[in-house]
Amino acid sequence: VKPEPLRIMISGAPASGKGTQCELITKKYGLVHIAAGDLLREEIATGSENGKQAKEYMERGQLVPNEIVFMMVKERLLKPDSKENGWLLDGYPRSSSQATALKEFGFEPDLFILLDVSEDVLVERVVGRRLDPVTGKIYHLKYSPPESEEVAARLTQRFDDTEEKVKLRLGTHHQNVEAVLSMYEEITIKINGNVSKEEVFAQIESALTKLLEEKTAASGSI
Ligand code: AP5
Repeated sequence: VKPEPLRIMISGAPASGKGTQCELITKKYGLVHIAAGDLLREEIATGSENGKQAKEYMERGQLVPNEIVFMMVKERLLKPDSKENGWLLDGYPRSSSQATALKEFGFEPDLFILLDVSEDVLVERVVGRRLDPVTGKIYHLKYSPPESEEVAARLTQRFDDTEEKVKLRLGTHHQNVEAVLSMYEEITIKINGNVSKEEVFAQIESALTKLLEEKTAASGSI
């Protein structure tokens, strides 16, 4: 019997390294990466009314109303590839009502990863972050510099990546994180996110290997 695919949630403060780790996790485990922030930025890019509304909240560092976010996340979770390959939910849920909405639709994770990063590190990561609009890859001017002049020349910065805006985003994170954590307490692992991205990934890898072994054992015993 084929083991059930992995269902993972990853959470952490702004710029704690969620997107960076998701790149590494999807490459190794083939999960479908569903990032609430990316879905919202795609919606903004279409110029839709929902996108316009979302941008106003994002510029203030506040949570976008859940009617908008849940619709997008749910649609992506329901696609066949998410069911088939498993999913990696990044930046969702961010409130207890979002967690409740997921539960009502039967979306329960196997593991809830919390990246723990100190505040001074977060600010430095936000200010130095750059994105490649062509590949979607995340860079950092100091910690993950672009590999060529060509990439360097086209890098962009996110509209909410200023020191002032990250403080607002952090405030929102602190207001909500405990309520979400309390809903996934039994399956949460706290990862030290202050170290290099390879060292952070090694900690995640060891948790996922263990989980896969458990799932394989469970499927064999049926
Ligand atoms: P979102 O896009 O999710 O932003 P965020 O949570 O603030 O997280 P980031 O994307 O900024 O950071 P990250 O943790 O992915 O870090 P990264 O890997 O890039 O959300 C944006 C907005 O959308 C929210 O403010 C809200 O308004 C709205 N929204 C989103 N979800 C919502 C929801 N569920 N409900 C309602 N509204 C929602 O890394 C950061 C930098 O550090 C990079 O430059 C990277 O290269 C570098 N770096 C990463 N790891 C390391 C390391 N180990 N060492 C050194 N550098 C590193």
